[in-house]
Amino acid sequence: MRPRILAVANQKGGVGKTTTVVNVAAALAESGRRVLIVDCDPQANSTSGLGVARRDITTSTYDVLVLGRPLAEARIPTRVPGLELVPSDIALAGAEIELISVARREKRLAYALEALADDPVDYVFLDCPPSLGLLTVNAVVAAHGLVVPIQCEFYALEGLGLLTHTIHLLRRDLNPALEITAIVLTLHDARLTLANQVVEEVRGRFGDRVLDPVIPRNVRLSEAPSYGLPITLYAPASRGAHAYRELAANLDARLQDEAGALRAPFLA
Ligand SMILES: Nc1ncnc2c1ncn2[C@@H]1O[C@H](COP(=O)(O)OP(=O)(O)O)[C@@H](O)[C@H]1O
Ligand SMILES: [Mg+2]
Repeated sequence: MRPRILAVANQKGGVGKTTTVVNVAAALAESGRRVLIVDCDPQANSTSGLGVARRDITTSTYDVLVLGRPLAEARIPTRVPGLELVPSDIALAGAEIELISVARREKRLAYALEALADDPVDYVFLDCPPSLGLLTVNAVVAAHGLVVPIQCEFYALEGLGLLTHTIHLLRRDLNPALEITAIVLTLHDARLTLANQVVEEVRGRFGDRVLDPVIPRNVRLSEAPSYGLPITLYAPASRGAHAYRELAANLDARLQDEAGALRAPFLA
């Protein structure tokens, strides 16, 4: 039952979704896993963050989702051995509207990813836009599990109730088999009392779903995308690189443990 498909989602922007996708994927690839990122965000930050320019893109997530192009045509290698990408560009912004009149509009990505059933890839990460529109819905429907990055700041606490409610709705209406695979605490500044309070609150609410370690605020992590590199290649010895490597290893271990217990929604 490979690969495991994970939607990295939070309706808030700037919480570390893309940073988590790119760096966890790169760390898993570094450790020998085969990984595919599908950039589901019209802002295409995981695409540019992996050094893929618009002129390099012939087939994109838009072409797969809206025009029904085969996934295989859109997969491209990255600078990270073992890590592939289905790139996005701004055309995807139109998909939210163009798909409205299409049959089974919320299952387009799930159908496209069925092509991976016999593929040697181990993990697929779906980098979602900061909204709960049709793109995020497609990702959630296609996924086995949800990875939710939460930024360690005041508004995170206000958003927790909404997040729990949203997950309830997604499960009820779209994907009853959806697991919360991991909550990832990001952008943590240990000097701030509030940031530490957020960590405690989130652990209290989500218990062992919170995946260690907490990701520190680290300037190297914010610089890496402008060089088109994941942290593992841009600053391999930085705090950010260590944190994301450890997080990736813990995610890998958790998913190996749970692999037998879960069923893919489209196999159920
Ligand atoms: N741990 C971190 N330390 C420093 N900067 C970070 C960290 N995580 C994310 N950033 C920066 O914060 C911004 C938002 O992160 P991003 O991953 O793009 O969020 P999202 O995808 O949820 O919108 C980006 O500029 C990113 O480089
Ligand atoms: Mg993003």
